[in-house]
Amino acid sequence: MDDQPLKGIRLVLTAGPTRESLDPVRYITNHSSGRMGFAIAESAARQGADVTLVAGPVSLPTPNGVQRVDVETAEDMQKAVDEALTNGTDWFVATAAVADYRPVTRSESKIKKNKDSAPVIELQQNPDILASVAARKQNRPFTVGFAAETNNVSDYAKDKLKRKNLDMIVANDVSAPDIGFNSDRNAVEVFWEGGSQKYDARSKTELATDLLTLIHKRSRA
Ligand code: C5P
Repeated sequence: MDDQPLKGIRLVLTAGPTRESLDPVRYITNHSSGRMGFAIAESAARQGADVTLVAGPVSLPTPNGVQRVDVETAEDMQKAVDEALTNGTDWFVATAAVADYRPVTRSESKIKKNKDSAPVIELQQNPDILASVAARKQNRPFTVGFAAETNNVSDYAKDKLKRKNLDMIVANDVSAPDIGFNSDRNAVEVFWEGGSQKYDARSKTELATDLLTLIHKRSRA
């Protein structure tokens, strides 16, 4: 059996949360351990792919053979992805939980507490990294997104697939106990135009390999 089925494939991934600072001690972020993205990166490298992993702040070791770029904010992540997506990237897989908004201003010094009035934080939208890759006219890789939902999982996921012009979306129900966010296990349903596939609860390592097999198949379909 071929133990390097992904040899020759160039994969760029995002993983983990982004961190949007308000001041030197406070920030806005999302729940994300980064484990799903790191598991995909590890499995892909083991199967011979050339892997660049753009990671937000997570406490995970770099998988063997993976090129890692550490970033903090969504804007940094966007820049790192644009740099990584040089000619010939085959697959882009966005597992990162990117903060949708960032503070309009970042204070250089710690914002002082005022016991008479609470501060109002003005926010602005961050770039949608996944949608920007999927919208490329040139050098567009096979583009895969993740959708963490708490309700109407398949409807929201299918809507995101269309709206962001993706080739595939991996949906997980983050309201389900024992799977998702900080767990080692995950159960997902994957959607593409005209099809879907369910994967019941399994380790993120096992799921990573299953998803790569599906991406390999669909990207050649
Ligand atoms: O719209 P929503 O954030 O739920 O979409 C989730 C998918 O989009 C994930 O694949 C995530 O990595 C990606 N995303 C992104 N940039 C953003 C927001 C989400 O790449 N600013």
